[in-house]
Amino acid sequence: MIEILTERLTLRPLTTDDLEWISAFRGDADVMRYIGSTGPMTPDQSRERLDRYVACWAERGLGMFGVRELDQDAPIGWAGLQPLDGTEEIEVGYAFGKAAWGRGIATEAASAVMRWGFRSLALERIVAVAYPENDASRRVMQKLGMRHEAMRLVHGVESVYYSVTALDFEKHASSANMPLS
Ligand SMILES: CC(C)(COP(=O)(O)OP(=O)(O)OC[C@H]1O[C@@H](n2cnc3c(N)ncnc32)[C@H](O)[C@@H]1OP(=O)(O)O)[C@@H](O)C(=O)NCCC(=O)NCCS
Repeated sequence: MIEILTERLTLRPLTTDDLEWISAFRGDADVMRYIGSTGPMTPDQSRERLDRYVACWAERGLGMFGVRELDQDAPIGWAGLQPLDGTEEIEVGYAFGKAAWGRGIATEAASAVMRWGFRSLALERIVAVAYPENDASRRVMQKLGMRHEAMRLVHGVESVYYSVTALDFEKHASSANMPLS
C-alpha cells in the first residue's frame, strides 16, 4: 500500500477500517459546513461515502488518504485526489478536524498529495473546488499555487474552481519553499 511521508505527517489510503473516525468527522457540523450539500452526515451516509473512496482506489489507483501526525495513531483528517463530479478532471480535496486547523497541515498534506499525483501518476493538471465563502480553503489553494479560473456547478453547488498544471506547481513549490514529502 502506498504511504506518503511529509515533515509532520503520514498519509495512507483510506480503507473500511477508517469508518469509525471518518463517521465522527463527517458528523461534525464545523468540518462539514462547506463540504458537499448535505451538512453533517449520518453514520450510514459516512459508510456509503467511505465505500466510494475505497472503490475509487480500486478502480482508479488514486483516492483519499487518512492523514496522521507522525507520532500519533489517531487520524486528524483526510486529503487526496479524486475525479471531479463526473468529469475527467482530477481534484484535490482535504478536510481536517478542528484541532488541526491553523497549523499549515492542509497545505502540507495537499502539497504532498499533489506532488505524488504529478510525479507518480503523471497528471498534467489538478483542480480544486470550494464554496466561495470558504476562505480558509481558498487560501490553501492559493498556497498550493492554484489559480481561480471560473465558477462551476459542483454537486448542485455554485463553486469556485481553481487549477494548476504540473509545471506551474513545481515552479511554485520551489519558489514558495513549499513543505513536500
Ligand atoms: C479548510 C481547511 C482544510 C484548512 O486547513 P488548515 O490546516 O487550517 O490550513 P492551513 O493552515 O494549511 O492554511 C489555512 C490558511 O487559510 C487562512 N485562513 C484560515 N481561516 C481563514 C479565514 N476565515 N479567512 C481567510 N483566511 C483564513 C490561514 O491563515 C492560512 O493562511 P496563511 O498560512 O497564509 O496564514 C480546514 O479549515 C478544514 O478542514 N475545514 C473544514 C473542511 C473544509 O472546508 N475542507 C475544504 C473543502 S473545499
